[in-house]
Amino acid sequence: MNHPAHPLTGVTRALGGIAYGGDYNPEQWPREVWREDVRLMREAGVTLVTVGVFSWSRIQPRSGTYDWSLLDEVLDLLYEHGIAVDLATATAAPPPWFTRQHPEARPVTASGTRLAHGSRQVFCPSSPAYAEAADALVTAMATRYAAHPAVVMWHVHNEWGNHNALCYCETSAEAFRVWLQERYKTLDALNDLWGTDFWSQRYGDWAEIDPPRDTTAFRNPGLELDYHRFSSDELLARHHAETDILRRIAPHLPVTTNVMGTLEKKVDGHAFAAACDLVSVDHYLPAADPDGHIDLALNADLARGMAGGHPWMLMEHSTSAVNWQPVNVAKQPGEMRRNSLTHLARGADGVMFFQWRQSRAGAEKWHSAMLPHAGTESRVWSEVKALGAELAALGEVTGSHVRSDVALLFDWHTWWALELQARPSQHLRYLDVVRDWYEALWTLNITCDLVPPGADLTGYRAVVAPNLYLLSDSDADHLTRYVDQGGHLAVGCFSGVVDTYDRIRPGGHPGALRELLGLVIDEYLPLRTQDHALLDDGSRVHQWAERVEPRGCTLVRRFADTADGGPARGGPAITRNTFGRGTAWYAACRLPARALRELVRTLCAEAGVAPVVHAPPGLEAVRRSGRDHTYLFLINHTLSMVDVAVSGTGLAGAVITEGRAPVPPGGIVVVREDDAATSARPQCPPSASDRSAS
Ligand code: GLA
Repeated sequence: MNHPAHPLTGVTRALGGIAYGGDYNPEQWPREVWREDVRLMREAGVTLVTVGVFSWSRIQPRSGTYDWSLLDEVLDLLYEHGIAVDLATATAAPPPWFTRQHPEARPVTASGTRLAHGSRQVFCPSSPAYAEAADALVTAMATRYAAHPAVVMWHVHNEWGNHNALCYCETSAEAFRVWLQERYKTLDALNDLWGTDFWSQRYGDWAEIDPPRDTTAFRNPGLELDYHRFSSDELLARHHAETDILRRIAPHLPVTTNVMGTLEKKVDGHAFAAACDLVSVDHYLPAADPDGHIDLALNADLARGMAGGHPWMLMEHSTSAVNWQPVNVAKQPGEMRRNSLTHLARGADGVMFFQWRQSRAGAEKWHSAMLPHAGTESRVWSEVKALGAELAALGEVTGSHVRSDVALLFDWHTWWALELQARPSQHLRYLDVVRDWYEALWTLNITCDLVPPGADLTGYRAVVAPNLYLLSDSDADHLTRYVDQGGHLAVGCFSGVVDTYDRIRPGGHPGALRELLGLVIDEYLPLRTQDHALLDDGSRVHQWAERVEPRGCTLVRRFADTADGGPARGGPAITRNTFGRGTAWYAACRLPARALRELVRTLCAEAGVAPVVHAPPGLEAVRRSGRDHTYLFLINHTLSMVDVAVSGTGLAGAVITEGRAPVPPGGIVVVREDDAATSARPQCPPSASDRSAS
């Protein structure tokens, strides 16, 4: 399949292959160190560094005064050494003078505390003073460096909303009222959709509406949900403002911002990704998660979903420990390589880190880096150098695409709504349920794209919707049409319940999906931590069950009809409904892993979706398809050698003997597959990327 040039392809062409490097913060170090930096960067095979993320106070030491000397020298030095630059707009960390001049621009918490300076992202997203200062800085940066030969792309801000997404100050309140007037036009409409007649909250004037600040009891859910949307939109407006300036002054350079995937609930990642020329994400392993590599794969598939199936960049991850988790576990030898190559397997064309040189001072000095405190005589440094060499040897995979037959619907709006106050169970958490379904697919080696519910689904053979508590009318119609036209859909518990405004859909749950699923829910039956229900295969259900009345669906699995069957004993637990030319499954509980895997396996088999390879448990397999070849990535998460039947050539030194690829424990093998292997694969429908590229 030929893909027209994507902006990331322009970058990787300029770099001669996979982007490799990290955040480079030269302002932390004296000039002599910069020379050593570039020498060691070359030694490690670094091709791209992100410069300027935290440079604002150096570039603009005082209001109205710019000093370019540091950046001029650093960019020239990097260029002389053949290292390209992803130039940050530096707006993520306003300097102290800015806060002093504009104390009103500091964010305010829900309890009314105005935050002090002393960290980063100390600004209210709606502050006009911040907007003016940031736009002026971006204009000056773009004007100065648009034509600098080292600069190959722009890095807008840094992790929008990481620390300041929700501000409750009076400026935000005023901006919120304007946002609401645009959205609802009349107060009557707002009152109706927010249900303000409950608890006597009816508004008679727009000025009466405040942000959902701390109050006596539960806040109005319509208000709170819209405050999430408003807050995300305010930052998105800042992103657009910066991007517009960059595109006007430097139209030849692509623009990105590092989106945080599931690490960031407060901003709608899909919306930010859609506003970039190329998608880049940050990922950090949750140290408390023994299967952190599944979280990694999930986020990589979310990045690819956000990129419309195109290659994307891993803008940040860590060489070893981070410094912001309760216990910052160091990576094991080989783990950084495995993490990096897994991102590559799942469509990354760039592998970058925070940060190049580990800080000596400041808030992140205990965060690992490419060049650690221990210097070049260290395990991390040797692995960083080895990874650079390996990525150089794998350069031919750049531009190839991962083709997914399955879409997993992932939505920030439903995440916000599900976790508002006063729900049936505070224990049902969005990411947990998403992870259950993702893990079932991952275990079966079935690759999926994580896309929003409104995404074009026509190319996907199967769709899973783990937990769409909130479903808009148009997205509900969209899913119904997908199935009607022959799609295979599986829906998880507590889905299709409320509309865009968190209002219950009338006529019995799940209002948006009743007909499609062929059932009605009599009652939701959340389980206490100490309780469980049983399925008819004897497996235990925790957290959530539902009493379902079939209305045409077939029962695939029931709750056990025994005393410990739980509150819906004997009733449907998994159902299947034929609708139009397709099928819609429903899970009426938070399914235990084995039952969920079986559901997903059957769904995929019926939809004609095959695993990437048949391999023993713990062997992760992903395929990238290029113009001339396909590339099979085999990742061994077990403690023993795993032997996989392949047809092709091992890359970067991997040895294939007699059609078998031995993958060592914790190792990765990349195989350039023979044509025969490629043509033996089941024919895939066009992926999302094919569609969006045409
Ligand atoms: C985020 C930020 C970086 C750094 C890292 C540390 O991803 O973008 O500036 O703080 O976290 O993990």
